[in-house]
Amino acid sequence: MKKLDDYRLLIKTKEYIPIMIGGMGVDISTPAMALEGARLGGIAHLSDALICAVSDRYLKTSYVKNRFAKNKASAHLNNKAFAQFDLQEVADATRNLVSSTMEKKKGPGDIFINLMEKLTMNNPRETLQARLIGALDGGIDGISLGAGLHLSSFDLMKDHPRFRDVKLGIIVSSQRALKLFLKRTARLKRYPDFIVVEGPLAGGHLGFGLDDWFKFDLKTITLEVMELLKKESLDIPVIPAGGIFTGSDAVNLIEAGASAVQVATRFTVTKESGLPDKAKQAYFEAKEEDIVVNLVSPTGYPMRMLTQSPCIGAGTKPNCESMGYILDREGDCSYIEAYRQAKEQQPDNISVKDKTCLCTQMRGYNTWTCGHLTSRLKETSQRADDGIYRQLTTEEVFNDYRYGTGQ
Ligand SMILES: Cc1cc2nc3c(=O)[nH]c(=O)nc-3n(C[C@H](O)[C@H](O)[C@H](O)COP(=O)(O)O)c2cc1C
Repeated sequence: MKKLDDYRLLIKTKEYIPIMIGGMGVDISTPAMALEGARLGGIAHLSDALICAVSDRYLKTSYVKNRFAKNKASAHLNNKAFAQFDLQEVADATRNLVSSTMEKKKGPGDIFINLMEKLTMNNPRETLQARLIGALDGGIDGISLGAGLHLSSFDLMKDHPRFRDVKLGIIVSSQRALKLFLKRTARLKRYPDFIVVEGPLAGGHLGFGLDDWFKFDLKTITLEVMELLKKESLDIPVIPAGGIFTGSDAVNLIEAGASAVQVATRFTVTKESGLPDKAKQAYFEAKEEDIVVNLVSPTGYPMRMLTQSPCIGAGTKPNCESMGYILDREGDCSYIEAYRQAKEQQPDNISVKDKTCLCTQMRGYNTWTCGHLTSRLKETSQRADDGIYRQLTTEEVFNDYRYGTGQ
């Protein structure tokens, strides 16, 4: 019986074990997890979500505190256009977090960073550019661009000396999205070095509608993407993601033509995962009916999460003065209006049902986003007499994908 270790992924001229650990924000795919993935010969992601807050956590900076001090006089205003990010700070935070991780890297694999376009940060284009340049300056091996179409992302870094050498990838959920992207990058004569095809069973935000995600199938979309690349005579590795729970699931996709797989949910319950122990146990205990796709994310994209997530129905005061990663260029976030309405209805007991303050809740690990197969995590561990599931190591999960056969 074939196992994932029988195959190798080739990106540019470098070979890897064909396992990519997906970006999991905010700081769920931690530097420690990324270092393990690289040590074991695969590719693992840092996440750039709330990068200044994450820098405060690891590098003892005070970006969030300072940002609040700068903006607090205007905190009463509903429109947050005043709360602009300092682009130099964003670039510094990204560069320093990346370089402090890259300095510790050992082993044959690579560390990439996942950048999300939908973190518009009051100034979509410039903040994205600051993050891209910061990551390149910090020495990152590769960048995967997710959550958005990223039509101009390559343009934003085209003058950087590492633009042609760094490994660049895009995450898409359809052939159509990829077609648009390829048309745009053709002008630069710089195609992506890998394409992640994220299907409907993935964790985090989804590239499908709330009412139709279950009609799509990862293998079908992957084959469609490969067909498009063949038509365009492009030889780019295709990496499916979403609901790949075992090495055998992965082999099945590789035999169909994929070059590797991107996986995430099984790593949420590892020792290296940033999630607090309480959340990890909730993931282990999750039943199928606890896993839902909803629209509480103010980005407007559907998101999959556990119904037990403390963020659902919380009445958090908008915290854009400190963070503000979802603010659009007009200084607006849909959570602000949802909060205002909930406060008007019940000023003494504010509970916001439709939306969540994603920055505050993700920073506090209260949005328990997860993949569709989270209810299977309990099969992968052992439960002690006190009812606590044993946490796994990144290495154990990685090797189970690498060498595992059967289900
Ligand atoms: C907890 C969690 C957080 C995630 N956060 C992000 C993210 O910040 N950016 C992103 O592009 N994808 C994110 N994802 C998606 C993963 O990177 C990955 O593509 C997908 O979940 C793979 O499917 P699986 O979880 O079924 O293995 C997240 C997934 C999980 C489980």
